Amino acid sequence: MLTIYFIGLGILWIVYDRLLLSPLSKIPGPPLASATRLVLMYYEFTRRRRRWIHQLHVKYGPVVRIAPDEVSFANWDAVKEIYVSDGSGYDKTSFYHLFDNYEHECMFSTLDKTPHGERKKRFSDRYSKSFIMQAEVMDGIRERAEGFVARCTEKAGVAADIYIYLHCYALDCITYHLYDPHGIRSLTEAPDLMKVKELLYHDNLQDSYSQYYFPKLFRLLSRVSRRADRSRRLSAQILNTARRSDISNHTVLSKFQSSSEQLETKSIASELLDHAIAGIDTTGDGLCFLLHHLSLPASAGIQEALRAELAESASVPLDELPYLDAVVKEGLRCFSPIPMSLPRRVPKGGRTIAGAYVPEDTIVSCQAYTLHRLDASVFPDPEEFRPERWLKEEGALERNQLFFAFSTGGRGCIGKHLALLEMKMLLREVYSNCRTRVAGEMTASMEQDDQIIASRPIGQKCLILFEKTV
Ligand code: HEM
Repeated sequence: MLTIYFIGLGILWIVYDRLLLSPLSKIPGPPLASATRLVLMYYEFTRRRRRWIHQLHVKYGPVVRIAPDEVSFANWDAVKEIYVSDGSGYDKTSFYHLFDNYEHECMFSTLDKTPHGERKKRFSDRYSKSFIMQAEVMDGIRERAEGFVARCTEKAGVAADIYIYLHCYALDCITYHLYDPHGIRSLTEAPDLMKVKELLYHDNLQDSYSQYYFPKLFRLLSRVSRRADRSRRLSAQILNTARRSDISNHTVLSKFQSSSEQLETKSIASELLDHAIAGIDTTGDGLCFLLHHLSLPASAGIQEALRAELAESASVPLDELPYLDAVVKEGLRCFSPIPMSLPRRVPKGGRTIAGAYVPEDTIVSCQAYTLHRLDASVFPDPEEFRPERWLKEEGALERNQLFFAFSTGGRGCIGKHLALLEMKMLLREVYSNCRTRVAGEMTASMEQDDQIIASRPIGQKCLILFEKTV
């Protein structure tokens, strides 16, 4: 009896401390979520974290306490402080260890900025805009974009499942960039198509959260029930390829191999596998949402405007086409492939973020989904897909500051220029040659379904009809 009494008193004290004494108690948010992390965990395990946090921002404003030790922000002051201050912003939280491969860290999963910076230096030039715009890289991507159109138009009048073919395209492009000539050719080779299918149709949200919150229990359960590894074949192929010496000069792997300070093979493979996974889902899902939207009857005018710009500017470089750029950016704003929170840990001594004091070790983050919608003075009618908003000079600074699809600062997306090239090249190939519309038999839901930080169409199928115009 006495034990129950003391446990009760202990719980009351913890709740009192979290709700009234904690320096975070001044930050608005639902009281139950401030008292216990179980509330946030409930929304995470039921795949509603992103939407719940967005609703809280709509209700409470740009600063919201979402757990006893976690705060979500949604304005430029916070983005600048959390992700850009001192170059790379705050260090990452242990959440990112979920992204280690072969039990080795990769750049993405490295928590602290010093080792992160050292690793990044080894290969970052392979992702610079000037490197990506070289003929060798562009030609490889163009060939694969042509392959995508050929796949989707091979049977006239028959709808193509672009969900799968866009992921094939993304994987073929990224592996070409990583380790040509051994890259995957899933748009043309059947065994490689199997590798893409193996990667796509897995749902690892519950497993990932279990691994994060209950690592020991997860390890134990994994030992007794052999869990499916979604990237089994790709992991094996990359580990073998990392040992090869016959690699093209323009690739990321060749950069690793030419370094005077050699890394362990597994460490190199961990980096390559991370880029392959980062490149397939993001670019594949982003393009899938965008192509689907452009193929709806309501987007006929946007498709026409895009086709007109492409026809008039056939010899203009891809990165100098304003309407194409606006369409891609609006696609990434409305359907961000990584729409969820990117967690960081407040450094020693605490910080003031967007006017709120936050003690050290608090988890803080912003999410693209909310940054792209909350401030209607920056993005009026935020749910409307309007490429034209990016063409106006007025408000351009504020729009670009809140554009968070690739994150920002030293830990923002290293693959951004490659991803933009892939997206633009594909749209140019498609809309210079075809008209697209959603197939009548398309019933799969295109609602965004969250996977830890990324998001994909819930139905994992997208049937589109391609009608040749030339
Ligand atoms: C439309 C496509 C893409 C989107 C929207 C996207 C988005 C992002 C975002 C938001 C981050 C920051 C994540 C965080 O801090 O937790 C990130 C990081 C990263 N992305 Fe991308 N990405 C895309 C394509 C690619 C591609 C093609 C690659 C291939 C190399 C890539 C490789 C990476 C890597 C390695 C990081 C970690 C960077 C670091 O830790 O310094 N991404 N990406």
